[in-house]
Amino acid sequence: MREMRDIKPVHIGIIMDGNGRWAKMRGLPRIEGHRCGEESIMEAVRVCAEHGIRALSLFAFSTENWDRPEEEVRFLVNMSRDILQRRLEEFMALGVRMRHVGRRDGIPDNILAWFDLAAEVTAPNRGLNLNINFNYGGRREILDAALALAAAVGEGNMRLTDIDGEALRRHLYVPELPDIDLLIRTAGERRISNFMLWHLADAEIVVTPVLWPDFRREHLEKAMREFRERRARRDGSAGDGLD
Ligand code: IPE
Ligand code: IPE
Ligand code: MG
Repeated sequence: MREMRDIKPVHIGIIMDGNGRWAKMRGLPRIEGHRCGEESIMEAVRVCAEHGIRALSLFAFSTENWDRPEEEVRFLVNMSRDILQRRLEEFMALGVRMRHVGRRDGIPDNILAWFDLAAEVTAPNRGLNLNINFNYGGRREILDAALALAAAVGEGNMRLTDIDGEALRRHLYVPELPDIDLLIRTAGERRISNFMLWHLADAEIVVTPVLWPDFRREHLEKAMREFRERRARRDGSAGDGLD
């Protein structure tokens, strides 16, 4: 039987929320909250790498976030590139393999070039798989997979009867990505906000009131402990005939 301390999530997803509120509480512009969120991102990456977590998906920018004020959008778009520039060396040292997850259209070319470079440089790494969900929408990902399947059938490369859950999964943005088993959302909101809808089917959800710029190792490790306890309870009660 598996020791309880061995139970750890394979794939953690984080909806990083509360940057605006963090800044507002301090009388600062919203972008200052985003800026200070960089340290929380790095801490989450380090902790996951250290704990041997296989994948971490960070919701950095949703397809809905384009509706925010222009200056804020510009800051967020540029910040994603700046973080890659600043932190690539540390990703390499940690053995992190980074990928952009989301639609490419709408993202400026010079930003995409950095996403591509970081993905290429870190591709040989065998540690944590770090997904940056940028210009990402969960429904759009499933729709894109459905369109790819329809095209394959239309072109005669696939039969209608070959379409099942596994076939759809193979057409998601990162086909080999396992399901999310632990979803963390900061800043107290209890919404999915169109995050990885396919991968979240069986996830444990931990909502913390902590605002993203304040999110540190202790908060992530607490969420991992909570996950372990819930899964141990579930596994322990399975098959004993009781509800
Ligand atoms: C999360 O913080 C960052 C992004 C969504 C890009 P918010 O900017 O949503 O912060 P709040 O929700 O306004 O506090
Ligand atoms: C979700 O946060 C998206 C990201 C973390 C990138 P939002 O703050 O944009 O979501 P809503 O508006 O609260 O659902
Ligand atoms: Mg928010």
